[in-house]
Amino acid sequence: MQHISKLPNLEPSIFSVMSTLAHKHNAINLSQGFPNFKGDQKLIDLVSKAMNDGYNHYAPMYGVYKLREAIANKYDLLYGYSYHPDNEITITAGATQAIYAAVTAFVKPNDEVLVFRPAYDCYIPTIELCGAKAVSVQLTYPGYGIDWEEVKQKITSKTKMIIINTPHNPSGTIFSKSDMLQLQDITRDTNIIVLSDEVYEHMVFDGEQHQSICLFPELKARSFITASFGKTFHNTGWKIGYSCAPKYLMDEFVKVHEFSVFSIHHPTQIALAEYLKTPSHYQELSAFFQAKRDLFLSLIKESKFTFTPSKGTYFQALNYSNITNENDYEFAVRLTKDKGIASIPFSGFNVNSLDEKMLRFCFAKTDDTLKRGAEILCNI
Ligand SMILES: Cc1ncc(COP(=O)(O)O)c(C=O)c1O
Repeated sequence: MQHISKLPNLEPSIFSVMSTLAHKHNAINLSQGFPNFKGDQKLIDLVSKAMNDGYNHYAPMYGVYKLREAIANKYDLLYGYSYHPDNEITITAGATQAIYAAVTAFVKPNDEVLVFRPAYDCYIPTIELCGAKAVSVQLTYPGYGIDWEEVKQKITSKTKMIIINTPHNPSGTIFSKSDMLQLQDITRDTNIIVLSDEVYEHMVFDGEQHQSICLFPELKARSFITASFGKTFHNTGWKIGYSCAPKYLMDEFVKVHEFSVFSIHHPTQIALAEYLKTPSHYQELSAFFQAKRDLFLSLIKESKFTFTPSKGTYFQALNYSNITNENDYEFAVRLTKDKGIASIPFSGFNVNSLDEKMLRFCFAKTDDTLKRGAEILCNI
C-alpha cells in the first residue's frame, strides 16, 4: 500500500530531540518546558479524593459544571470580564487539544492562518492538517516585537484566523496593551477569528499586567482563549486545560471536541474546581517564578551569554554570539553532549530556520538545578 503523508515535511519535535539527548548524556535538562519539582500536594490529594468518591466515569462533554463556574469566576476576578459557564467554556485535554479543536472547527482548505514566529510547535501542523496555509510573521530581533505593518500587508481575503501567544514561548516577551489595540483595529470589520494562546497567563513579571484577549470587548467577541492547568499547576502530564469563547464560536468548537475526545479526566476536574476556589493558588505564581528567573539571571550575570530578562513564561532566552559562530542547533547539541546542559535552539521555530544565536532555557526547576546549570553556563 502507498500513502501520501498529510504532513510530509514534519520533523521530530525539537523538544523530544533535546530531551532524548539530555537523557542520553545525563545532562541538566533546561530544555523542555516543565517543572522538575512536585506540584501542590493539596491538589494531588483532591484528585485522589475525587477518585475515591467515585468520580471515575465520563464527565459532561463541556466539562464539570463547577469547574466551568470556577473558571468563569477567575476571569471575573482577574479581568472584570467573563464567560458563561453554560456554553462559553469547555474543558480540554490540555491547551494542545483546545488549539486543535478551535483551528479544525473553522479553518478550511486554502484558508490562511497568520502565525507569529518563533511559534509554539503545534500551530502549523494543525493548520496544515486542515489543508490551509500558515502565513508567518517573524517577530523582530532582538526585542521580539511585532511589525504590525507587516501583519496588515499579510492579511488577505483568505485570512481566517490569527494565532497569538502571550506571554510568548520561546522569547519570554508579552503583548502590550498597544499590541492588542493594533490587533483590534486590524481585525475590525473582518471575519477573522483570533486564537489567543494564554497558557502562561499566571507567569508575568515585574508588575506587568497580562493582556488577556478578554480585556478587549471587540476582540473578545471574535476570539478563543486556550489555557493549560498542567502548565499553571506544575502537572503538565495531566494534560488538562480549557478554552473560552463567545457561544456562537464555542458551538462549533464543541462539534470537534465531541468527536475527538468527548470528555476529559473526571476526577481531576472535580479536584481543580475545588482548588480554584482559592485565588492565591494562581495569584502567587508570578512572584514564585519571578524569584526563579531572578535567581537564574543573577547566577549567570558574569557569563558570556547576554539576555533581556524574560517578562513572562518560565523561559529565559540567552544570546551566545559572544561565544561562538556555530549555528544554534549545533551549539545546543554540543552544550548537551560536551558540557552537560540542554536547551532549545530558537531556529526551528523561526521563518526559514533563521539563526539569531538564541537558546531557550526553562527556569521552572529547583534552585539546586538552576545553580548547577548556571555554574556550567558560567564556565562556557
Ligand atoms: C505556548 C504553548 N501553548 C500550548 C502548550 C501546550 O499546553 P498543554 O500541555 O496544556 O497541551 C504549550 C506547552 O508547552 C505552550 O508552550
